[in-house]
Amino acid sequence: MDAIEVIVTKRDGRALSAEQIAWVVDAYTRGEVADEQMSSLAMAILLNGMEREEIGRWTEAMIRSGSCMDWSGLDRPTTDKHSTGGVGDKITLPLAPLVAACGAYVPQLSGRGLGHTGGTLDKLESIRGWRASLSNDEMLGVLRSAGAVVCAAGDGLAPADKKLYALRDVTGTVESIPLIASSIMSKKIAEGTGALVLDVKVGSGAFMKSVQTARELARTMVDLGTDHGVATIALLTAMDRPLGLAVGNALEVAESVEVLAGGGPSDVVELTVRLAREMLAAAGVSGKDPETALKDGSAMDSWRRMITAQGGDPDAALPKAPETHEVTAPASGVLARLDAYGVGLAAWRLGAGRARKEDAVSFGAGITLHAKPGDTVREGQPLMTLHADDPSRFDRALAALAGAYELGETADPSLLPLVIDR
Ligand code: URA
Repeated sequence: MDAIEVIVTKRDGRALSAEQIAWVVDAYTRGEVADEQMSSLAMAILLNGMEREEIGRWTEAMIRSGSCMDWSGLDRPTTDKHSTGGVGDKITLPLAPLVAACGAYVPQLSGRGLGHTGGTLDKLESIRGWRASLSNDEMLGVLRSAGAVVCAAGDGLAPADKKLYALRDVTGTVESIPLIASSIMSKKIAEGTGALVLDVKVGSGAFMKSVQTARELARTMVDLGTDHGVATIALLTAMDRPLGLAVGNALEVAESVEVLAGGGPSDVVELTVRLAREMLAAAGVSGKDPETALKDGSAMDSWRRMITAQGGDPDAALPKAPETHEVTAPASGVLARLDAYGVGLAAWRLGAGRARKEDAVSFGAGITLHAKPGDTVREGQPLMTLHADDPSRFDRALAALAGAYELGETADPSLLPLVIDR
């Protein structure tokens, strides 16, 4: 078999055979198929799509490129959540310890942010001492002691995806439903979770801009999980405006701790509780109700155990950016629209995100929102506070925000409901 034959098959709009898929994924992982060949194949897949069987085989080949984790020795079911990414999406932080407090184990492998969307590991690393890299034995130890662990995937887990995702990122081939679905699901299946809830984001701040494409992605991922024996369900949720009031690493940790303390913004609380119930139901666990676990302090106890077990100090002050700039309402009225992409781009330009994988993030940088769509504001009232280490970053962040918000008489009627569909 050779790479050109595989590329030409997909370029001409035909389905790849089982042998072609198994060979090309394995040969690419071993370095026998070159980056430029895989990049050409990824573009052909993006343009011509894949049939359901092809997506299943491609996912299987990516899982087989590495090892799988096994939690069968644990005394309670495992359950996990994966979000397709968005702006202000810190839900994993309160959710993982919350679900642990309600009686399931949560073994979550997470990623870092790239572009305008944040990454869970970057957020947690703003906590002094917290470590993202754990060996499998350490991961099991944290899971046993805290009920939840959030850490980076080791090199042995779906290495084909690690290589392919980095390539797609620089070749304009990320936005393909077969490639996104197989990338996410190969890692989640290899992670070994028994149940999985997918939070598929829809809107300007998400990969999927329309409900229709998000639904197709969700259906593809649910089928892949189900075919591999993982109890999988998906919610479609709004990412046309940011989630919560904080965007940026340490700012989002602080907001998550508020939720764990029984407070926090209503959209973050609502989505956290809804996802927790779905995760517990998918795992067949009917213990404590998540709302009770937020009120009685047990979710906070799990959080403190989880952070401490990974070397973090849950009581340490979080990093703060030294420079701030306020954006005020130009007139009185109702905040009609607050665009998730514009706010995410501004936070990224303030230093909260990275342009290249090797870049460091600023833990304190980001945006605090003082109003959400539907809120009434007065002229001159602060709409948001920008945080940065260096004031020279404010101009470019403000340029990203120009046109990202609008005042009117009512909230924009096209705003999506927080949970669009299940
Ligand atoms: N997240 C992933 O892990 N893979 C993709 O392809 C897109 C988002």
